[in-house]
Amino acid sequence: MKNIKTLSKRGQTAFNTQLRVDFDLFFEASEDMYHPTDNPNGKFPLNTAENKQSWHLLKEKMELLSLEKSIPDWVPNYTSCLGHESFRLTMANFLARFLTKGPINPDNLAVSVGASAVIEMTAWLLGDSGDVAVFPTPSYPVYKQDIGNKAGMERYNLITHHEISEIAEKPILKIKQLKKAKKDIVSQGKTFKVLVLTTPDNPTGGMYPIKRLEKMANWCIKNKIHLIVNEIYALSLLNTKHPAIKKDYKKQREFISFGQIMEAKQSPYLHLWYALSKDLGISGFRVGILYSLNDALIKAYDNLNVSHLVSNHTQWLLSEIMADHDFMETYISYNQKALTDAYVFMIEKLRALDIPYVPSRGSLFIWIDCAKFLKKPTQKAETKFWEDLYNKTGVLLTPGEGFGHSKRGLFRIVYPCFNIADLGVAMERFGKYIRGLK
Ligand SMILES: Cc1ncc(COP(=O)(O)O)c(C=O)c1O
Repeated sequence: MKNIKTLSKRGQTAFNTQLRVDFDLFFEASEDMYHPTDNPNGKFPLNTAENKQSWHLLKEKMELLSLEKSIPDWVPNYTSCLGHESFRLTMANFLARFLTKGPINPDNLAVSVGASAVIEMTAWLLGDSGDVAVFPTPSYPVYKQDIGNKAGMERYNLITHHEISEIAEKPILKIKQLKKAKKDIVSQGKTFKVLVLTTPDNPTGGMYPIKRLEKMANWCIKNKIHLIVNEIYALSLLNTKHPAIKKDYKKQREFISFGQIMEAKQSPYLHLWYALSKDLGISGFRVGILYSLNDALIKAYDNLNVSHLVSNHTQWLLSEIMADHDFMETYISYNQKALTDAYVFMIEKLRALDIPYVPSRGSLFIWIDCAKFLKKPTQKAETKFWEDLYNKTGVLLTPGEGFGHSKRGLFRIVYPCFNIADLGVAMERFGKYIRGLK
């Protein structure tokens, strides 16, 4: 493209840095989306983390509010760069009730346009260019760009296991693995600045037991490393006692937020990320949150966040909804039931096809192992399988590439982005393809 030379060096790097390997196909598939009557031969983009199960409840509530309520006069104005006070207060009450189950001071919150912006801002403020953030793999691919594109931080993939059977019960992360990573990073002349854990996890749906998080927190505080826990899927929990799946879990686990550890330790090295994109299924509204007891971090965030502010109209509308805890309670339990129903449906199909998966406890994903269908355990063979599946069936999965893991042939399925009837069509096509390979 001849105009590339008109860009800065940074602009040229951005031009050449793809956000995700599957984005082009995602947009192609989205333009030819399956519909039972209008487009029965259409595509199934099951690769982008969107939950469409419960939007109708929020939509109805938003439409009603827009009719009934007058827009407050602060909405059209400039307001706090951390997010409007009333929104942060509503958010603090919401998080305290539904997520951390402990007190949250709104002064410890900062709001930006989606988790991506919060991650980018946090990376900028905690790390210098060339500093390293560690992610146990497999881990959300776009973290690399979020911490790297502007802040210049580097992603270190910490491989804690190879086979998915090893993480069937919970994610693996041991202090000795962190020590080894630290040694490795230091030997390269770099600094281990941040450890990022996602729970429930993207892509495995695994949940870190609170005792493990506490151990990690103690180690990080001792080593002056920031521990950030991303709880963006914290309310997208599955009913693991459902009769069709309960035998997949040796132990039933309750989700306990990292916020409880933060409250107990009061450390400037512990932070939590949250967003409304997944649990409320409103990624297009762009609302992400940093919760931190580090006052310097919040002050610096305030000074830098002006280009990442969430529209006041969005803050106001969502405040009205999220302050209604009875509604939110109903929404969350409806959503969890819908997620569980869709998950169970998918698991029964995967079992019938003898495809191994990591039993999920939450999130919007199923992490599956299709290694046995690859001609060779290589990246090339994995990409070929992924493209061939899409070309022949229209079913688009998220490829393992980018999650930073060692095993080839692992794929992520996003299941709540279609209703169960449509998922049935997708899985029929997928099953036919897989049976054809056997
Ligand atoms: C773990 C994780 N963090 C952050 C994001 C980005 O979220 P947002 O759309 O709020 O920027 C995603 C989206 O898939 C995610 O899975």
